[in-house]
This record gives sequence, C-alpha cells and structure tokens, in this order.
Amino acid sequence: MGLRLLPPSPAPDLSEAQPVQPAPARPPAPERPVQPMRAATAAAPVPAVAEVPLADVPDERTETVDALDWGGLATAVAACRACGLCESRRNTVLGVGPAQADWMVVGEAPGEQEDLQGEPFVGPAGQLLDNMLRALGLDRRRNVYIANVLKCRPPGNRNPQPEEVARCEPFLRRQVALVQPRVILAMGRFAVQTLLQSSEPIGRLRGRVHAYQGVPVVVTYHPAYLLRNLPDKAKAWADLCLAADLMDGGGA
Ligand code: URA
Repeated sequence: MGLRLLPPSPAPDLSEAQPVQPAPARPPAPERPVQPMRAATAAAPVPAVAEVPLADVPDERTETVDALDWGGLATAVAACRACGLCESRRNTVLGVGPAQADWMVVGEAPGEQEDLQGEPFVGPAGQLLDNMLRALGLDRRRNVYIANVLKCRPPGNRNPQPEEVARCEPFLRRQVALVQPRVILAMGRFAVQTLLQSSEPIGRLRGRVHAYQGVPVVVTYHPAYLLRNLPDKAKAWADLCLAADLMDGGGA
C-alpha cells in the first residue's frame, strides 16, 4: 500500500500537566454510528467486563470465535481458561470503545489497574494515550476502540509468552472484524509482533503502512515506553499524524 509521507505537524505537549488541545489543523474525528451489540444494549459501549456467570458460559474453544457477536465475545473472554493467566487474573479486559470505530488501538496486556478495573489503559500509560488521542480529536468513549493483545494480566506485568499470545489472538482478530476500523495503531513490541507477525524492531517498522486482516496498521511506541523515553514522543506524534493522514485519504 503506497503512502505519501507528509512532514509531521509539530508535536503537541502530551504531558499530564498540560492537557493537549486538539491540533488546530485536524478537526475532531467524526463519530461513526454505533452498531448495536445486542438488541438490549443498542448504542451502548462495549462492556469492559462481561457480566455473565462463568457457569452459564460455553468453552469458547468449542465454538468458533470468528462467528461470535460482541455479546458472545465478551462472554467467551470472561470465561476463557485457555492459558494459565486465568489463574491469577482478577478481571478479564476485553476492550473499551464503540462497537464500531474508525480508529483502533492495540496495546500489550492489562497491568495492575486494568486487571482491577476491567478496562484497558487506565494507569499512567493510559493517561498519556488519552492525551495523544485527544490531540487528534479522538476519545475512547466516542470514536476509538482500545484493546490489548492479551485479555488477562501477566503476573507481575511480565512479558506475554508466545503461547499466551497464540491462545488470545482469535479474540483480537474477532474484535478487529467487529470494530471494522479504518486504521489500527499497533503500540509496542507485542502488538506489532502479533499483528504483523514480524520481529523487526519498531524503529524499522515505523513510517510506513502495514496491514492486518486487510486493515491498515501504523506502528508506534508503547505509551509506557514513551513515559520513560520522553524524546521519542515526537516520533510517536509523527506516527499518529501518519495514521491521521491515512484517515484523511492521504494514501490509503
Ligand atoms: N499497557 C498495555 O499495553 N495495555 C494496558 O491496558 C495497560 C498498559
């Protein structure tokens, strides 16, 4: 997929202390009509935690995850025991955002706060992510869907193991199919490796457009990494501008 690379606009200050205003050159992204997940929950955001008792839930491994609707997917994730992470999790973390959205963000795995609250990116990295999104006129409650590669917290926030990623990947694939994003932001090594099946460093994959299941993918650094490596925030902003250019029709 060819893409004209425009020089990125200057990076806004994404720090917590100074909430970022939407960049003037970029009007807020329009909301897509929210598709009903189920008749009873029309227009409601995707639940962060399924409310179905585990005993009522069939094992998703005996079902075709690819055929699940949002309700079925939430149920299957809440009941999942496909890897050892189910032993230590407090909540599964499916995702947050509208049932359909033009933008989708994929991170790594829930951390402690996410495990407690059942929602992705609610800690310090999440605040930075929200600021970055806000700078583009995006908001997790209105027009961007956020998910992780893993739906359960690895103990002590250790790295995801290949088998855990492999077991969880059908859920992510189904989320992408249901959300129908026009662009996916892959944030960090594990999102990039999972979506692109590539072990190349992020620095080598940035700046061009990849694809997952036919959806354009833009690679960038993980917000937690950016909190430790402030100078790379400018690069992350350039990556977001690349994704925004794609949405504006600049080369998709
Ligand atoms: N880091 C992630 O990759 N995902 C989260 O939900 C929180 C921190």
